[in-house]
Amino acid sequence: MQIITTKQELQAVVQACKTKKRTIGLVPTMGALHEGHASLVRRAVNENNVCFVSVFVNPTQFNNKEDLAKYPRNIVRDAELLETIGADFVFAPTPEEMYSEEELNTTFAFDFGGLDQVMEGKMRPGHFNGVVQVVSRLFYLVQPDKAYFGEKDYQQLAIIHHMVERSSMAGTFGNLQIIGCPIVREDSGLALSSRNERLSAAEKQTALEISKTLFESLKWAKEKGATVAAVQQRVIDTINAVDGLEVEYYEIVDQITLLPTETFDHAIGCVTVYCGPVRLIDNIKY
Ligand code: PAF
Repeated sequence: MQIITTKQELQAVVQACKTKKRTIGLVPTMGALHEGHASLVRRAVNENNVCFVSVFVNPTQFNNKEDLAKYPRNIVRDAELLETIGADFVFAPTPEEMYSEEELNTTFAFDFGGLDQVMEGKMRPGHFNGVVQVVSRLFYLVQPDKAYFGEKDYQQLAIIHHMVERSSMAGTFGNLQIIGCPIVREDSGLALSSRNERLSAAEKQTALEISKTLFESLKWAKEKGATVAAVQQRVIDTINAVDGLEVEYYEIVDQITLLPTETFDHAIGCVTVYCGPVRLIDNIKY
């Protein structure tokens, strides 16, 4: 496995792969890797000739400086894990290598087709502009055939699909296929997240109530006469009743448009909860 830190070196390696007609799989990450990331990388290794993983804590997608400063970083451990699961190249640039001063300080403009007006987009203004900025740059640099994203960040995945298939950028990325991969959970049900590293043992125990409530809500949705609005409210009330948890939003929306829906067909419930100071997200398909 080779670790690359400059765009120039990256492009040389990508060019060599293209000349040899190797198919390329890309897994974009912000490091602090866990089994969820590992599942994406294993899949990319299996489905492509060459697997690239980017490890870059992208400053332009953080609207909260403290969150950026506290985001866990451990490139040595990440590289060890990536080596054991068979990644070929790790791209780990600095922010200065990735962006010019101007790019770092201006919001990247993009037509989200409304997908950024809800949930995470509403709560974290500019977040998805930063995500699209970095992901589109990675696509230009790595020219992958397939790129892998976790379904835990469901809205991010929907926006990246939009970027590749429906936006004005469509066509720029060749036949790139976006692959969404299922959430990986601990046996307890807790969705794996790099942010879990910031939870104390007691907070981690409390956080279990989030996934437990989401799973329960599948049953509530099947109860006679259950409306989407009632199930949505019941999830919010149940989680808020737990000491140490505070729901920021829970919305049951259409899986494609992310707009509120009145039926459970093709619906997904997306939640954001503060567990102490740590902001956790999770979702469930109905
Ligand atoms: O999901 C993430 O870790 C990030 O948002 C991504 C896709 C790597 C872009 O920085």
